[in-house]
Amino acid sequence: MKLRTTILAALAFCMSAAAQQSNPLLRNEEKITEIIKGMTLEEKVNMLHGKNMFSSAGIERLGIADIEYADGPFGIREEMEPHSWTPLKWETDKATFFPTGSALAATWSREMAYEYGKAMAIEARLRGKDMILGSAMNIQRIPTGGRTYEYLSEDPILSGELAVGYTLGAQDNEAAVCLKHYALNNQENMRGYVNVNITERAMREIYLTPFEMAVKRANAYGVMAAYNKVWGHWISENPLLQNQILRNEWGFKGIIISDWGGTHSTVGAAIGGLDVEMPGNTFMGQALIDSVKSGAVPMEVIDAKVRNLLRVRFAIPAVPKDVANTQITSQPKTQAIAYNVASKSIVMLKNDGGLLPISKKMKNILVVGDNATCTMAQGGVGAGVKTLYEVTPLEGLQKALKGKAKIKYVKGYEPKPRRRWGEKKDPDLTEWNKNVLTLREEAVATAKDADIILFIGGDNREVETEGSDRKDIDLPFYQNELVEAIAAVNPKVVSVMVAGAPVDLRIINKVSSSLVYSWFNGSEGGNALADVLTGKVSPSGKLPFTLPMKLEDSPAYALGVYPQKSETQQADVFVGLVDNGQNSKRKMEQKADADYTEGIMVGYRWFVSKDVAPMYPFGYGLSYVPFRYADAKAELKGTNIEVTFNITNQGRMTADEVAQVYVGRPDSKVERPKYELKGFERITLKAGETKTISINIPVEQLRHWNEFQHTWNIEKGKAVIHIGSSSVDLPLQTEIEL
Ligand code: BGC
Repeated sequence: MKLRTTILAALAFCMSAAAQQSNPLLRNEEKITEIIKGMTLEEKVNMLHGKNMFSSAGIERLGIADIEYADGPFGIREEMEPHSWTPLKWETDKATFFPTGSALAATWSREMAYEYGKAMAIEARLRGKDMILGSAMNIQRIPTGGRTYEYLSEDPILSGELAVGYTLGAQDNEAAVCLKHYALNNQENMRGYVNVNITERAMREIYLTPFEMAVKRANAYGVMAAYNKVWGHWISENPLLQNQILRNEWGFKGIIISDWGGTHSTVGAAIGGLDVEMPGNTFMGQALIDSVKSGAVPMEVIDAKVRNLLRVRFAIPAVPKDVANTQITSQPKTQAIAYNVASKSIVMLKNDGGLLPISKKMKNILVVGDNATCTMAQGGVGAGVKTLYEVTPLEGLQKALKGKAKIKYVKGYEPKPRRRWGEKKDPDLTEWNKNVLTLREEAVATAKDADIILFIGGDNREVETEGSDRKDIDLPFYQNELVEAIAAVNPKVVSVMVAGAPVDLRIINKVSSSLVYSWFNGSEGGNALADVLTGKVSPSGKLPFTLPMKLEDSPAYALGVYPQKSETQQADVFVGLVDNGQNSKRKMEQKADADYTEGIMVGYRWFVSKDVAPMYPFGYGLSYVPFRYADAKAELKGTNIEVTFNITNQGRMTADEVAQVYVGRPDSKVERPKYELKGFERITLKAGETKTISINIPVEQLRHWNEFQHTWNIEKGKAVIHIGSSSVDLPLQTEIEL
């Protein structure tokens, strides 16, 4: 059977013109012109800054509602007081905790991204929200990045495809997205003031491409300007990024809002393209009125911003106030989507002894590890979800194995106490240090008699957090020592890493027979994990980032350009937001440069081109069934390269596979990675079934940015097409001449 490439996959860059024409943002232009004509300057400027912490004003006189923003990106944030971060403690605002960004990306599924956006929109609407502050989609440049768990991938095409899906899913269901953080917010340390030095080529090919795709192909209605600078200029007042690239080149018609506290000037921001200062009015309130009156900011600039806001306002019908918040935010249909995403995201990295799926003969199961019972919806700095419920791994396993096996749980390790927000002193660690050994000894003693040991460890939401990067990627809290000690008495160890970002697996990989990555996987995470471990579902997630052998192998570390040696590091920008600005002035005076010396060699591009062996490569993930790839063909059809091949499920159960297509340009005149991801497809195959897969790669995706002519070029010549199941397992190869 010949599979038609999914509709979403077939949407090429070149179709963006069609997408623009049907842009719902442009359906009310005349009406908007009339409204603007009748507005005073004060009314206009009133719309251009935060009214509350999470809203900007409409036009009361005309009954035009405020725009309500919902902090995503992995669940609708709880309600807070209008001008502070203090929760209102409602009952109805309990939302679904969706798998975080890296988990969604591990599905490699446009359909799942669409469903995810749709579910977020359904919950946003129930809460009366118009715009979801997501997808969070910065490229995962460094493995230590504090928000890696929120972001999608280290690859622009994978990130972009999923952001397109998320955007269409949300906006088809009446919630706008706000793509964030545009752009180059690839580290959390010093994010409030760091200045990115980068080639235009790397900026466009790697870091801007996902945003470009979501704007051009999905008509994203909102974009959030990042905190940082590029080439010495704040993003939120950057005419190149905002006016020229986003609006003029990509045809963006929606609103650009600042990240919270990320506006730095009045005239600069107004002229440089920012539409809304969030969450206050320091720069785009009275100061903006004065700047218009003095002639520093032309009225047309203000009118254009009001137009952008009204476009969004009319494209998203406001939820009547008496309808919002009348039901609990989390709903069975959105919970089902959270489950589907989670169950397709889990990555099996190793299954050497065939311990998985857990056999029916295993009657005494020992579960070890704090993450077996730890919830991940909240923690650390930044957006979390006040979730209606969260099934932990232990609960999921207990439910799935009820009446089939005996499960014993021991903690094995516990997180090291940390200094909390507002605390002056580091906590006393005496008790914790004592517990390390006691808990380990208890686990080892119990492990001896178990038929199988499921170690559930990894990071948690305090370890991976907004506002700061991790110092390293080591498994915290002496987990390596624990698993080594357990494996010494009973080698039947399956280790599950609950984490949103890479961790150093060198030790745990050695001492575990099976190894699984299970992400911060949302309200249904425990159920999904249990279904994969027990074999109800075959694992089908693929790594959205490289798991390096060691941190120093990853490009920015290998080149010594991260971490930056800055002596001026101060509190995160967030501190300024919650202490009434006492720290924010100081931060603006600070300087720190992030040199993106690795250029386009980000993530696996570096590893495959420099022959550095990773621990597990980008795109990698095993299944309970073997797949056979065969019969590759590539043909130029109009503006697309059509790649076809066969995949056979050689196992005994239905399973999903994510087929990946990488393209190399061996005769290129410019520096290029050995090959780059250009297409992928998730396929479901029954036992023994063969399907012919057809993947269309727009020739335009083979473009590169010409630094001298400042334009995109597509080189003629040979394109080598590699097909397979990860960035290094590429059994099929074919060529095409362009
Ligand atoms: C984060 C954004 C978030 C905003 C509002 C900022 O600190 O960077 O991602 O949407 O806060 O909570």
